[in-house]
Amino acid sequence: MSLPTGTHLLPDPQAVAREAAERLIVACGETGSERIAICLSGGSTPKVLYGLLAGPDYAARVPWERIHWFFGDDRVVPWDDERSNVRMVREAFGHGSRIPSTHLHFIPSDAGAEVGARAYEQTLLDFYGSETLDPVRPLFDLVLLGLGEDGHTASLFPGKPAVDETARLVAPVPEAGLEPFVPRISLTLPALASSRHVLFLVTGTGKRPALARLGAGEDLPAGRVASVGDVAWLLDAAAAG
Ligand code: 6PG
Repeated sequence: MSLPTGTHLLPDPQAVAREAAERLIVACGETGSERIAICLSGGSTPKVLYGLLAGPDYAARVPWERIHWFFGDDRVVPWDDERSNVRMVREAFGHGSRIPSTHLHFIPSDAGAEVGARAYEQTLLDFYGSETLDPVRPLFDLVLLGLGEDGHTASLFPGKPAVDETARLVAPVPEAGLEPFVPRISLTLPALASSRHVLFLVTGTGKRPALARLGAGEDLPAGRVASVGDVAWLLDAAAAG
C-alpha cells in the first residue's frame, strides 16, 4: 500500500503520541512570537497525546502560558455531552490542566451550526488580528488532525459542501458523513492551510482502507489538506499495515 507523502511509521499509538509531542514542542520553540496557536483534533486518537502533554514526561516542556488552543471541529452538542470534543479535551488534558482558561478557545455549540460557525470564525479572526489570512503569517503554528475511516478530517466529509468551502474559515456541517450523526462545525481547508505545520495522527487497522484510498490517489478530504509549511502523517504499524 502506498502511503501519503510525509508519512512516518511508528510501532504503536504511544510512540505516535510521543513523536507528536516532540514535534509540538519543536513547533513551539520555532516561533518567535509570544503567542503560539495550536489547533486540536477531535475524536479518540489524540487522547493519548493530550494525556502525554499534561503528564510528568512532557508537562514541564510545554510553554503553557504562551499556547492558545483551538479546535479543528466539534459536534453541535452540549459541552458536557460524551460526544463533545470539548469534553474529550478537558478530560484528556485533565481537569487540573495547566492551560489558562482564557487560552482554550471552544467552538460554541449551543446556538446551532450556522451561528456557531460564524462566531468561531470571528474568534479566529479576532485572535489573528486581521480579516484576511496572510500566508507569510499563518494563523496556526501547528494543526493536529485525524483521519476518519471514510477519508474525512476535522468534520470535512466526502461529498459534503463544507469540503469545497474556499472563502469561509469555519463552516456549518448540518449532516455528518459518519457517526456521531449530529450537526458539526468545522474549520475549512483554507483555515487548516493557514498553518506552519499540519500533523495527522492515524492509528489502528480501521484506518487502512482510507489510507489505501489516499495512497491510490482518490480525492478525499484528508488528502486535500495543505499547509504553508509541511503536512506530516504519523502512522502506527496497525494503520500502515
Ligand atoms: C472528530 C474529529 C475527526 C476525527 C476522525 C478520526 O471530531 O471526530 O475531528 O476528524 O479526527 O474522525 O477519529 P478517531 O481518532 O476517533 O478515529
